Amino acid sequence: MNAQATRVKAPGPRGDFLLGCLSHFQRDAIGLLSRSAQEYGDVVRFRMGPVVAHLVNHPQHVEHVLLHGAENYDKQTRSVSKIRATCGDSLLTSDGEMWRRHRQLIQPAFRQETLERFVPVITETTNAMLKNWQNVARGRAEINIVSEMMQLTLKIAAQILFGADIQDEAEVIERSLAIILRDTWRRLETLFDTSVVSPAFHRRRFRRALQEIDSVVYRIIENRRQSGSSSDDLLSMLLDAHEADSATRLSDRELRDAVITLLLAGHETTANALAWTFYLVSQSPDVEELLRRDALGFESDQTSSADLHYTGMVFSEAIRLYPSVWIIERRAVADDEIGGYHIPAGSTVLVSPYLLHRHPEFWGNPDEFDPERFTPDQCVMRPRNAYIPFGVGPHQCIGKNMASLVAKHVLGMVYRQFRPRLVPGQTIKAEPQITLRHAGGLRMTLHVNQ
Ligand code: HEM
Repeated sequence: MNAQATRVKAPGPRGDFLLGCLSHFQRDAIGLLSRSAQEYGDVVRFRMGPVVAHLVNHPQHVEHVLLHGAENYDKQTRSVSKIRATCGDSLLTSDGEMWRRHRQLIQPAFRQETLERFVPVITETTNAMLKNWQNVARGRAEINIVSEMMQLTLKIAAQILFGADIQDEAEVIERSLAIILRDTWRRLETLFDTSVVSPAFHRRRFRRALQEIDSVVYRIIENRRQSGSSSDDLLSMLLDAHEADSATRLSDRELRDAVITLLLAGHETTANALAWTFYLVSQSPDVEELLRRDALGFESDQTSSADLHYTGMVFSEAIRLYPSVWIIERRAVADDEIGGYHIPAGSTVLVSPYLLHRHPEFWGNPDEFDPERFTPDQCVMRPRNAYIPFGVGPHQCIGKNMASLVAKHVLGMVYRQFRPRLVPGQTIKAEPQITLRHAGGLRMTLHVNQ
């Protein structure tokens, strides 16, 4: 990329002679990266086994890798190769022509106007959950809010994207996905992943979990085919592309890969983000009161959630502190230079929204939960791309509008009726995997608003 690139090596922890920082990363990935950024600065070099990686932690460097210099930073990375075992070749895992073709095909389904047609679906599905919550509140029982959000956002995503009712399968998918994500992260962290030799070497639990999800995906596709009904949702667009007689036709495999990718990416990230929001708000009575007032002024059957302004600020702040996609990986195609340091061709570059969102140069009291950071005035004062929960550049999240629409409606509807409270005595811990999950769930009780 940069023919005159410097050969100066970026500073970074040395780690062990053999494995470099790999075992430290396996023990405490976020701890290693954040302490290293504090000690060595905005470009840090790591060796993890045979892999050389650079963490870049400054808005300008992030723009360079993900936006202006994106041509030189592709997705032929270790994480993508592991995700491919589940999602195949899809938007999440591809580059170049194939990625462009899929993005063009899928993008129209994610326009704001298209999505707003689905507000009644969001409202109905959330109301069904809240009805059950009334019983939980009356019985003074507990819920696991992570599990509740996983199932809710899954049902909503299946309806919005594929017009599919998956009430009965939501629990199975939740369990299977947890197994898949944990196994994917384990394979990413290990030096010797036997499944690279053959998919037959995947652990039995992983294979079974994938089969469970696959059977739901194939049923969604088959049901629509058999019903013969044509809708203008994403599934119809994908099926039309599958049946088209052109060079851009989607193969059977591409169709399956697209559906599974959107179903999984379309709910898990939003669910984790919502669960973190409930946790943060439960620790902050003032924010909760403002949220409740915002929610009381909002009619849930409105097609737009534009008036839930404060609720939007709270969600933005929650995904600043706990961005579901906490780390983004790219591979440098050619030699380059970032911040005066050499980035060798073939090496890994890491961007962490989690670290960037807590960078002390751009965020005062970075660990504090404060939705006022997202007033319009505050937002314009911050450097562009100091805040990237949905990424930036050509691979920016396609589901950004959908996530915000769903999250605002769900939060608005919940805080109109309830105040979720954390069950005391729990250790709250972020579990960094491919996404930022909650170690051990999050138990809450529900208090009905008077
Ligand atoms: C709070 C919720 C969400 C967060 C925080 C989030 C975050 C992200 C981020 C950071 C990326 C960029 C990754 C990269 O540059 O490598 C991304 C990409 C992507 N997201 Fe999301 N996402 C969310 C919700 C969704 C939803 C609702 C969908 C779909 C229905 C979705 C589908 C995708 C897809 C397909 C990509 C790959 C796009 C491409 O490479 O062209 N995400 N997401």
